Amino acid sequence: MCDDFSAGLRSRIPEDVPIVEGDIADTTALRGTFNTFGVTGVVHLSAKKATSESVDLPLHYYKENVTGLQSVFGAMVISSIDNFVYSSSAAVYGTPQSNPVKESEAFNPESPYGETKFVGEWLAKDLATSDALNWIALRYFNVAGAGSDDLGDNRVNNLIPMVFQAIEIGRRPRIFGADYPTLDGTCIRDYIHVVDLAEAHVAAVKKCEGG
Ligand SMILES: NC(=O)c1ccc[n+]([C@@H]2O[C@H](COP(=O)([O-])OP(=O)(O)OC[C@H]3O[C@@H](n4cnc5c(N)ncnc54)[C@H](O)[C@@H]3O)[C@@H](O)[C@H]2O)c1
Repeated sequence: MCDDFSAGLRSRIPEDVPIVEGDIADTTALRGTFNTFGVTGVVHLSAKKATSESVDLPLHYYKENVTGLQSVFGAMVISSIDNFVYSSSAAVYGTPQSNPVKESEAFNPESPYGETKFVGEWLAKDLATSDALNWIALRYFNVAGAGSDDLGDNRVNNLIPMVFQAIEIGRRPRIFGADYPTLDGTCIRDYIHVVDLAEAHVAAVKKCEGG
C-alpha cells in the first residue's frame, strides 16, 4: 500500500503488508512501486474529504483529489495496469431526490469535495475510452464502525468520534439542520459499516479482474 500518512496511521497497517510512504502526486515513484511489487490493479482510497474544508480550500482539494488521481492514472498507463477501483462518494449526488438513492440519480455535487469526486469519475470514464481500463466507482455515504476494537475510529473529522467526544465532556453533540421532516427536525443520515465497505471493495476488485 502507498500512503503519505497525512491522515492515515502507519501503526494500523498489518506487519505483512508492504508500505511505501509517499505522495500519489509523485508519478515516477508510483511507477517504481508498481514495478517493484508487480501491481496489477489499484484501489484508490487516497483523498482529502472534509466537505467544509473543501469550501475554504478548493484549490487544495482539486490538487489532492483530481491532480493526485491524474498522477495515479499516469503511472498506471505507463505500467499497463488496467484494473481500478475508485472510492467515490455519495456526495456526487448532492441532496438526492429519491430514497433509497439509485445509481441513476442525477449528479449534483454541492461542495468542491463532491465535485472533485465527480471529476474523478469523469477522468476514469474518459481513460476507459482512450485506454484499456476496467473500473468501478463505489459511491458511498458516511462510513462508521471498526473491524476490531484496536481499529476504533478516533479522527476528529469523522462524525461518530465527534459525537462521542462531545458526550464524554458532558456536551450535547452539535447536529446541524432543524427543519427536516423528522421528529426533532434534524436530518437522517445513512451509514455503512467499514467492514461491509471493505468487502464491497474486494468484490469490486474481483469484478474488475473478471471474477
Ligand atoms: N469516510 C467516509 O465517510 C467516506 C464516505 C464516502 C467516500 N469516502 C472516500 O473514501 C476514501 C477513504 O476515506 P477515509 O475516510 O478512509 O479517509 P482518510 O483520510 O482516513 O484516508 C485517506 C488516506 O489517504 C492518505 N492520503 C491522503 N492524501 C494523500 C496523498 N496525496 N498521497 C498519499 N496518500 C494520501 C491519508 O494519509 C489517508 O491514509 C476517500 O477517497 C473518501 O473520499 C469516505
